[in-house]
Amino acid sequence: MKKAVLNAVKLNSLKPSLPRIGSPELKSYSPDDVFFCPEESQFYSQCLEKMVLSRCEAFEQVIEFGTGDGTPVISGLLKTRFAGTIHGYELSHSACEVAQNRIEQYQLTDKYKIHNHCFFEGYKATGADYLIANPPYIPAPDNSIYMPALHGGVDGATITNKLLSVGCQTVLLMISAYSNPVETIQHAIDEGYSVVDFMVTPLQFGYYSSEPKVRDWITKLREENKAFYSSNIYFLAGVLFQHKSAGETDLSTELIKVITAL
Ligand SMILES: C[S@@+](CC[C@H](N)C(=O)[O-])C[C@H]1O[C@@H](n2cnc3c(N)ncnc32)[C@H](O)[C@@H]1O
Repeated sequence: MKKAVLNAVKLNSLKPSLPRIGSPELKSYSPDDVFFCPEESQFYSQCLEKMVLSRCEAFEQVIEFGTGDGTPVISGLLKTRFAGTIHGYELSHSACEVAQNRIEQYQLTDKYKIHNHCFFEGYKATGADYLIANPPYIPAPDNSIYMPALHGGVDGATITNKLLSVGCQTVLLMISAYSNPVETIQHAIDEGYSVVDFMVTPLQFGYYSSEPKVRDWITKLREENKAFYSSNIYFLAGVLFQHKSAGETDLSTELIKVITAL
């Protein structure tokens, strides 16, 4: 049993080379430059589809922190009748290039607009009511890690918490069980949010979280009750936060129970 687990982690830890469809010469991008974790991106897409895109009213404005290669939103747009606009902000030029290519390929240019700069510098002008993100949540003492743009601060929750302070009415965030989730949920409540819905998936430690420096740091966080996982998996939750309104059911207690269960 142990051997099988080790093999699974090893396989996931192999540095993948990424063939990208869409550009004329079928370019390859390093996973240290363009985020690559299909299991996680697919789960983010499912959460988007169920909790945001199929519930949005017509012509709603959505802002996205960290577009990556654009696959999660593109896939969600292709499966729903969302009629608004999504503005995606992404630091990596390569990721924007891939995303823009795919958006054009699927003829979604009027629905998904990519901005190649920092989210925190660009979002204010949009006045959007929805904020969506699979944010950087890798905890580490500093950002000298495989992909520095995935650094989520010392406890992994710094950017997540910052996004919960932006002031959007509705926020969909991926929250990792090894990135101080309890304090993040408490922070959301302090900012006036309720947890109105959530979905949870088990994930194996992959390329980014298996980097020895990161893995050792996550072990330390566990001793401080800031990381929850088993030898096989950790939980990733897609959480829909909404500014409190009277009578709204708040699922934060249930979410904490699930995300800290391992
Ligand atoms: C975990 S990845 C998610 C990518 C994609 N949404 C997905 O789920 O496949 C987080 C992304 O946020 C980007 N990012 C980090 N800091 C950023 C910032 N300040 N503004 C915009 N994007 C940022 C990273 O480059 C990375 O592509």
